[in-house]
Amino acid sequence: MSATPVHFSDTERAALGAFWHPVAYVSELGDAPCRVTLLDVDLVLWQHAGALSVAHDQCPHRGSRLSTGWVAEGQLVCPYHGLHFDGQGRCTRVPAQDPQTPISARLQLNTVLCVERYGLVWVCLSGTPRLPLPEWTALERADYQQYASHADWQVSAGRHVENFNDIAHFAWAHAGTFGAREQPLLLPERIEETPLGLRRTTRVAQAERDTFTDAAIVTEADYRYEFTYPFASSLRIAYPSLGTEWIYSAASPVGPAQTRIFILKARDYGQDEPLADWIAFQDAINEEDRRVVEQQRPRAIALDPAAEGHIVADAWSLAFRRRWASFGVNGPL
Ligand code: FES
Ligand SMILES: [Fe+2]
Repeated sequence: MSATPVHFSDTERAALGAFWHPVAYVSELGDAPCRVTLLDVDLVLWQHAGALSVAHDQCPHRGSRLSTGWVAEGQLVCPYHGLHFDGQGRCTRVPAQDPQTPISARLQLNTVLCVERYGLVWVCLSGTPRLPLPEWTALERADYQQYASHADWQVSAGRHVENFNDIAHFAWAHAGTFGAREQPLLLPERIEETPLGLRRTTRVAQAERDTFTDAAIVTEADYRYEFTYPFASSLRIAYPSLGTEWIYSAASPVGPAQTRIFILKARDYGQDEPLADWIAFQDAINEEDRRVVEQQRPRAIALDPAAEGHIVADAWSLAFRRRWASFGVNGPL
């Protein structure tokens, strides 16, 4: 069993860097520059006059970290010699020299393509995204109750994505929340390849525990999964009596075994119920997942199908793994 590498290879970084990845919530950004890491690459995010810019977090002068600087009058200021940069990454001011002196063209920031959507900042390191952003339409419904959170897991993005899209673990890893240990058998299912990823619909047994007797009341819900490469998952759950809930998750690969997970949820019922209960229930489910997934070894997926054993319920995971070769990614993922 090979250990997961500490860093992405240049080939893998280039291949994964050709997709959109979320790196932060817009609401997390303040007046100061903010540092994030994507695919081992440190980036600086800063806001200026209502716009947002992203660049490699390294000053082109002497390599200082720009994210430890500040923003003044819409310019990003390096904390070492005070060079100023505008939203396009152009150096506009070198305080130590006469303003009439031409500024070297080498003092240009290495800017990165970015876009804001669903309250998230998405970046594409290559500048030419291979696929569009996922369509997460329920987040555009002002009449739905919604919330967004994030979590950091010590696993690869691929391990997280496979966990999110795996159903066979519900009865076991989620027996403490909604999993129906009494009904672990899954229905046969068909995985549909789409231009952006994978889709499937199925019916899933869920359990609710009676508060007094702890007896399980098993019900069924319709699940529709819609996945967009590289790591954006969406799940729509239609509960027979309650209504519909959407869970969106985008895994951002910080490093080969370090992932920031952005979770955004919406529901068309329970608007009057406290948001805190809904969040707490999802947090409990996420924690059940994290406890298992962070213990998986290796921490990243080896894409070779012979690397692990498989069960019938792994059809989604095998389809997910298959397409990576066409994107130039051979793992670990
Ligand atoms: S290192 Fe940034 S201004 Fe000198
Ligand atoms: Fe789970």
